[in-house]
Formats: sequence, C-alpha cells, structure tokens
Amino acid sequence: MSSFFNPDRFITEQVEALRRDVGDGIAINALSGGVDSSTVTALAHRALGSQLKSVFVDNALMREGEPERVVAMFGRLGIRVERIDARRTFLRALRGLTDPEAKRQAITDTFYRDVLAKAVKRSRATFLLHGTILTDIEETVAGIKRQHNILAQLGIDPQRAFGYRVLEPLQTLRKDGVRRVARALGLPSSLTERIPFPGPALATRIVGEVTEARLATVRAATALVEEELKNTGAFQYLAVLLEDCATGIRDGKREFGQIVVVRCIDSRDARTATVRELPWPTLKRLSRKITSIPGVNRCLYDLTPKPPGTVEYV
Ligand code: XMP
Repeated sequence: MSSFFNPDRFITEQVEALRRDVGDGIAINALSGGVDSSTVTALAHRALGSQLKSVFVDNALMREGEPERVVAMFGRLGIRVERIDARRTFLRALRGLTDPEAKRQAITDTFYRDVLAKAVKRSRATFLLHGTILTDIEETVAGIKRQHNILAQLGIDPQRAFGYRVLEPLQTLRKDGVRRVARALGLPSSLTERIPFPGPALATRIVGEVTEARLATVRAATALVEEELKNTGAFQYLAVLLEDCATGIRDGKREFGQIVVVRCIDSRDARTATVRELPWPTLKRLSRKITSIPGVNRCLYDLTPKPPGTVEYV
C-alpha cells in the first residue's frame, strides 16, 4: 500500500459509490468477524444505514466464542447483526470430504446455495457486499487457491445463479490498506489489529475430514496459540490439525495420538511470509499446553516460509 493512500478519501469515494449502486434497494453482507468483512460492514453501514442487512453465519467452523463476540461487538457500534445458525448444514456438507479443494468447494456451495440464498430471499436484497481484497483475486486468478468469496473471477454470474449483484468495495486494497480504512472508520483496535482469519475458518486448518470432534481439537489448540502469541506482534499465528497420527505415551500407556502444528509468521500482506523465530521457552510452553489437549500427543513448529508453503494448510 502506497504511503500516498488516503483512507478518508477512500471511504468518501466508496460511500458515494455504494449509495449510487444500491440506490433505494437493499444490500446484504455476511460478516465473519475478520478484518475484511468487518470493514465492509462498517463502510456499508455508513453508506446505507438501515438499507444494509448484516448477517453472521455460524458455520460450525468458528473459533471459540466467536459468534457471540462478533455480534456483541457490532451491537456496541450500533450495527445490528443477525446470527444464522447453519452449523448442521455445513457439517453435513463436509462429511467424508478430505480433498482440500473439495472441502473449500463444499463450504462455498453451502454458504451461497443453502444459507446465503435463503437469507437474501428473506431480506429481499438485490446486492451482496463482499470483503474480497486484491490478494484474494490475484491468488484465485493464478489458480493457487480458490478463495471462498470469489465468484466473478471464477466466471460465475451471481445475478443469474443467485439473483443478486456482488459489490466488492475493498477489491483494490491489500490487508495493510484495509486496516488503515478500518481505523479511519473508527473500528476498535481489538478488531483492526486482529490477525487475519480465513473465510472457511478452521476448515483451512484441518487436514483430512472436518468433523465435530476434530473441530473441537483444533479450536482448543487455536485458543491456546492465540493466547500465548497475542503479544508477539506477528502477522498471523495458528494451529493446524494433521491427518496423520503418531505413537506416544500417556499415563504410562501407548497412545496413537493426533499431531498439531503451530505456525507463526511475519508478513506485510500475506503474499509472502517468513517464519517468526519464537523464543524456545514460548515454544516449549505451547508444546506442553497443546499436548494436554485430549488425544493430541505431538506438537510441531512449522519452519516453512511462503513460498513454498502457503499460510493455511487447506
Ligand atoms: P494462504 O494460505 O493462501 O493465505 O497463504 C494467505 C492469507 O489469506 C488468508 N486466507 C483466506 N482468507 N478466505 C479468506 O478470507 C480464504 O479462503 C482464505 N484462505 C487463506 C490466510 O489466513 C492468510 O492470511
């Protein structure tokens, strides 16, 4: 992001564009609680007020306490967010899937076809606002990864397929630009300085099948990693549950247990990343805590930069 970028001017321009595009219609947006979708929510609320309907889709893949936290935080900002409980629908759609792209596809399809389409119909919205940023578009077009929120770039006409037009007010920005806009919109620092979190949520951190039990494991590990590393200032840190198991010992008995990977990276915009050299005592503490999660007996630290690794595992 160039230092000439002016967040206030960006906001003024986007507010005008949103008002022009939506007219006296209704727009809907799905908030995930991440920086991008939160920024879109605040920006569009400024532009459209009660013509904007914001929903939070609980897809069963969220971090600990996230749905309640997000809805409450926006409530404090005067923005009403409706929580849609779609946990069963998503878990059913993911059952038996192990291929990364098949899992992402199932989440995209469930989100758009089963859940959002109904919410759009209920709200009579004809515009859908997306938090797509430039990096999402570039990586999807390059075929590196199918981001959950890309339709037009994949040749899907949302008007024809779902009956709404997609507006992507952040599509010229990268993560650092989005944060500057979020701050200028007055969003709290607990949100603007939040580490990135992907739309498909914890499903990007489970190699192999996504089940309720495996989600509980990676959710517990994520909470431990986020608590332990919150003051590092690193760009992003996360926990991943592998598909493999390893032999270990628990309570004097042999256990074929699960393996959790911890990843902590520095980056400017997630296009490339280096690995943070965490202090040994921090790593040892994390390992001890993570291997106390039931069924987990190995904790690994990922030393791979991006490239060749991506940030997420799925
Ligand atoms: P990767 O794994 O592609 O991640 O190196 C780059 C950055 O993007 C985030 N990410 C996503 N964000 N939807 C999102 O909104 C997605 O499908 C998605 N996949 C990855 C990731 O957390 C990292 O910050």
